[in-house]
Amino acid sequence: QGNEAEVAAFSVPSYACQRRTTLENHNTVLTDALSLLAENAELSEEDGRGVAFRRAAAVLKALPKPVASMTQLRGLPCLGEHSLRVIKDILENGASSEVESTKQSERYKALKVLTGIFGVGARTADRWIRDGIHNLRQLQDSGPTLNRAQQAGLEHYDDLNQPVSKSDADAIGEVVEKAVVSVLPGAHMTLIGGFRRGKLTGHDVDFLITHPEEGREVGLMPKLVSWLESQGFLLYQKTTRNSYLESKDGPARPASNMDRFERCFSIFKLTKEEKRGTKHPETLTENGTKPAGHKPWRAVRVDLVVSPISQFAFALLGWTGSKLFERELRRWAGHEKSMSLSSHALYDNRQSKYLRATSEEEIFAHLGLEFVPPSERNA
Ligand code: CTP
Ligand code: MN
Ligand code: MN
Ligand code: MN
Repeated sequence: QGNEAEVAAFSVPSYACQRRTTLENHNTVLTDALSLLAENAELSEEDGRGVAFRRAAAVLKALPKPVASMTQLRGLPCLGEHSLRVIKDILENGASSEVESTKQSERYKALKVLTGIFGVGARTADRWIRDGIHNLRQLQDSGPTLNRAQQAGLEHYDDLNQPVSKSDADAIGEVVEKAVVSVLPGAHMTLIGGFRRGKLTGHDVDFLITHPEEGREVGLMPKLVSWLESQGFLLYQKTTRNSYLESKDGPARPASNMDRFERCFSIFKLTKEEKRGTKHPETLTENGTKPAGHKPWRAVRVDLVVSPISQFAFALLGWTGSKLFERELRRWAGHEKSMSLSSHALYDNRQSKYLRATSEEEIFAHLGLEFVPPSERNA
């Protein structure tokens, strides 16, 4: 008797950036369900609903133990009516009917398969589905025009939908590091994204590159890409140059949270030799004689970003993620501090000035937040 009343209610602060969210999640059944609804909303271009489900999932990720009853959730932030209904369904029936029917819907399955192609977003997938294309076979048969990214994405579909391990990320890191120091001695490379947060697998590998002398990083990306290309490491790449300095609206107007660093979205060719950490034999490229069903390499998505040293701390913070943690940092800055945070800078609207920082710790301090290390940003 009185079991429910004995279960203490949880308490967490409102913003994900005020919380410490490790990879240890005591509520994976609930958070997987809410994440699936978030994903479905995002794939349907309902971003508001997507964020609401992401925030709800993030609150549950921060709880110190499994949720046993609805009463424990009283007073928790970010749990809307819809999310609470899903949670209740799972606690009472073991599953959410909405999640199960979404998962099984033809539309969701088609959106998943099609957006699983690198270079295909929700809008393209939706257009194809309306044209009757629901899977890769139908895509190949009906042959809509694919851009270069999508062609590469389709070609390496299976590899790119396999999780990337930390050891694969490290092997790629060694190659990129070597490339970086050979094209610009003294330059530094840092692993960012999910692997910096301690994740054991990822959908890609992200690197941030800078040079301790301001300005020396200019022009680095094309050289880096040429080096990697000449060694046969790139199956695809698209480089976007830095548009920060030349943009009309000046620095740090994060109306768009898209940053403007020089960056490269690539598909990296990781060979067995690189995995073992030995030298890359020039002869390993498959010249016509591909062994059927087996190849001595795999394709991996790799993102490269170059930042000037003056913006490095902001770039590091902005590219470490998680995506929700970043979004919450910006929301905190704007709503609670009247500041604008981007991956380039922090602007204080009250003082009408930029706040300098050379470390992530300083940025958290400017924002009036306790420092949260990368491993606790897994919101
Ligand atoms: N990011 C960004 N602009 C982009 C893409 C990503 O600022 N166009 C940032 C994201 O906000 C995130 C980080 O880069 O903080 C890493 O993004 P991503 O690789 O997509 O996610 P991960 O957290 O690394 O997750 P995964 O392990 O699945 O790669
Ligand atoms: Mn715990
Ligand atoms: Mn990543
Ligand atoms: Mn990435």
